[in-house]
Amino acid sequence: METSRRTVLAAAAAAGLTAVAAPGTAHAKEGGAPVKELFGTLADGTPVHRWTLENGGTRMRVLSYGGIVQSLEVPDRRGRYANVSLGFDRLEDYVASSPYFGALIGRYGNRIGGGRYTLDGREYRLSVNDGPNSLHGGAAGFDKRVWDVEPFRSPAGVGLVLRYVSADGEMGHPGRLATTVTYTLTGDGDWRIDYAATTDRPTVVNLTNHTYFNLAGEGSGDVLGHELRLAASRYTPTDATLIPTGELAGVAGTPFDFRHGKPIGRDIRTAHPQLVGAQGYDHNWVLDKGTTRAPGYAATLRDPGSGRTLRITTTEPGLQFYSGNFLDGTLSGPSGRTYRQGDGLCLETQHFPDSPNKPDFPSTVLRPGETYRSTTVHRFSAR
Ligand code: BGC
Repeated sequence: METSRRTVLAAAAAAGLTAVAAPGTAHAKEGGAPVKELFGTLADGTPVHRWTLENGGTRMRVLSYGGIVQSLEVPDRRGRYANVSLGFDRLEDYVASSPYFGALIGRYGNRIGGGRYTLDGREYRLSVNDGPNSLHGGAAGFDKRVWDVEPFRSPAGVGLVLRYVSADGEMGHPGRLATTVTYTLTGDGDWRIDYAATTDRPTVVNLTNHTYFNLAGEGSGDVLGHELRLAASRYTPTDATLIPTGELAGVAGTPFDFRHGKPIGRDIRTAHPQLVGAQGYDHNWVLDKGTTRAPGYAATLRDPGSGRTLRITTTEPGLQFYSGNFLDGTLSGPSGRTYRQGDGLCLETQHFPDSPNKPDFPSTVLRPGETYRSTTVHRFSAR
């Protein structure tokens, strides 16, 4: 952990300020083994567990259902904790209607146009769940599956290994896909995600996590005052159904230019056709670093009020910045407050949407004998 963060946390502990926890929920020891509890039961009787992890001053709660990050608690510049991720208190709410709060997304993050693609001369028709398109893996994507969860404590930190085997043909995709996702909280309080997958037939894969961040705390209002920096000179404009046109457009001189950092709200109401079509930001930025072996710099998000800062590095070539446009005040979080448009935002590291139909985009094809790998690191600090 950075020394300044240690000092702030020690001072906060001395002042009696500790991580927030709803009454009756499990606690994990800082740096200790993850703690498991029953969270709920699905209609078919399957139990869903919740794991609590704490390390380096960061605490998170993860569900076996959808690999959902139910809460993520980090300190502000004075050591005061808040849950900076949108979510629910009850399993029923996640099952009934969740806009992918905190969830693992697969087999294909974001949209595949027309819900179909051709691979090696064969056409595959997918589960269509977003107008004419397949979104986030289809009607029952990885966000709605119960994952096998194994806790660990290692020199890398404390964490969970989540496993799910997607059957050949599931949601229309070919190949039995064996997926392993590792969530690690490092000694520095970073939340690291390592994704891996193998297949027995050629298929496409694009995994991500759909956490909605509000660094002032969930339920505290909108994120329009958060400052965002994106290390991307280009983005992929979309058609009316949010499928990329195929063009890589320059951000210079447009509301899409976040290269030098700016408040999210500064240009969000510009009548730019791309912002009108998506009701805000809901686009894939083409990261200047491209696909990398080691995680490279992608984005920084900062809430000036609390000082909480999130820095994202990734091996992926793209990042979907979604400004919570479709939150409409009908869902409410653990704070008991409703979520309205812009009350949280997603920064989803990924390959570009609709890549299976865009031969010029970096390929998402995975073949037998190969291993899909992807890593994203979320670094929290407060300044
Ligand atoms: C997509 C949005 C979609 C949202 C679902 C985002 O990743 O880009 O278009 O509405 O997920 O909540």
